[in-house]
Amino acid sequence: MQHDVRSGCCHPTAKMAAPRSCALWSYCGRRWSRLMRCCELPGIRSSWPGGPLGARQLSQEKQATETHFGFETVSEEEKGGKVYHVFESVAKKYDVMNDMMSLGIHRIWKDLLLWKMRPFPGTQLLDVAGGTGDIAFRFLNYVQAQHKGKQKRQLRAQQNLSWEEIAKKYQNEEDPLGGSRVVVCDINKEMLKIGKQKAHARGYKAGLAWVLGDAEELPFDDDKFDVYTIAFGIRNVTHIDQALQEAHRVLKPGGRFLCLEFSQVNNPLISRLYDLYSFQVIPVLGEVIAGDWKSYQYLVESIRQFPPQEEFKEMIEDAGFEKVTYESLTSGIVAIHSGFKL
Ligand SMILES: C[S@@+](CC[C@H](N)C(=O)[O-])C[C@H]1O[C@@H](n2cnc3c(N)ncnc32)[C@H](O)[C@@H]1O
Repeated sequence: MQHDVRSGCCHPTAKMAAPRSCALWSYCGRRWSRLMRCCELPGIRSSWPGGPLGARQLSQEKQATETHFGFETVSEEEKGGKVYHVFESVAKKYDVMNDMMSLGIHRIWKDLLLWKMRPFPGTQLLDVAGGTGDIAFRFLNYVQAQHKGKQKRQLRAQQNLSWEEIAKKYQNEEDPLGGSRVVVCDINKEMLKIGKQKAHARGYKAGLAWVLGDAEELPFDDDKFDVYTIAFGIRNVTHIDQALQEAHRVLKPGGRFLCLEFSQVNNPLISRLYDLYSFQVIPVLGEVIAGDWKSYQYLVESIRQFPPQEEFKEMIEDAGFEKVTYESLTSGIVAIHSGFKL
């Protein structure tokens, strides 16, 4: 049986016919679901079993039991455990492997996510699938630098202060983050443990909390955060649509969703080189550095299973977000999707 890496479809003729038909099928499904959502009357759920929505529900129930884990087909119950095992196994080497695999470029992509966010003073951020804290630490650096800059400008504006008054102002500064906070939420204890150790070693204390939790069932109240980020996390979640709905629920009205994830390379030459590198080099690096071929094989396969930019944009819209846009980086190797809860 042939497996088409781009479509993620397993079918004897997958390479020839499946990419287009699968894309078309999922496109039609999404359009249909939107149309039906618009047609639903308030308070009345369309569940007419013989009707089109009933059929959709039935087929969803049938499909609901199976999903993919990389290129493997597994039951939905199995997937969570397998993903957990991957990140439990790679946690200790996660950061060094990220640098090795991406030649350090993941740092630039994460910086770009922060520049896109441009947090304002007092921003409450939830970083889901936050792992070892890369996004959270960048956020804290950003808001601290911003707050310091503001403080300096204010002091400069007050020309005739004595040095004692200036020193006092600095000492009285209780919150160097200007009220901003970040919560890192991840399902994996080992990843969080490494994150906490890193935070301790780098001296991050204030404004940072670590919470064990599932992106599909976030342990937070509604309308709580200004920004929700998820970096290289959402492709590992079993029900992406559910995770998106949870993101929407916990954001305040006006809040922003930002997702950094691997995406579809749009240049055929780069795509070939990238496939070669991913499948021939990354698992070998995984074996040599982390003694774990399988986990890194899963990582590259899971990237190929994730929907391309436009399709993911529609999924975000389906979850209720508005003004959804995306930017492809490094020829589409990754993309940042953004949406607002309005
Ligand atoms: C590739 S790491 C990304 C870590 C971090 N965001 C970064 O960019 O370095 C993926 C993370 O997603 C987490 N994860 C997977 N499934 C999850 C779920 N259902 N809910 C929350 N976190 C999940 C894993 O435990 C892992 O820490």
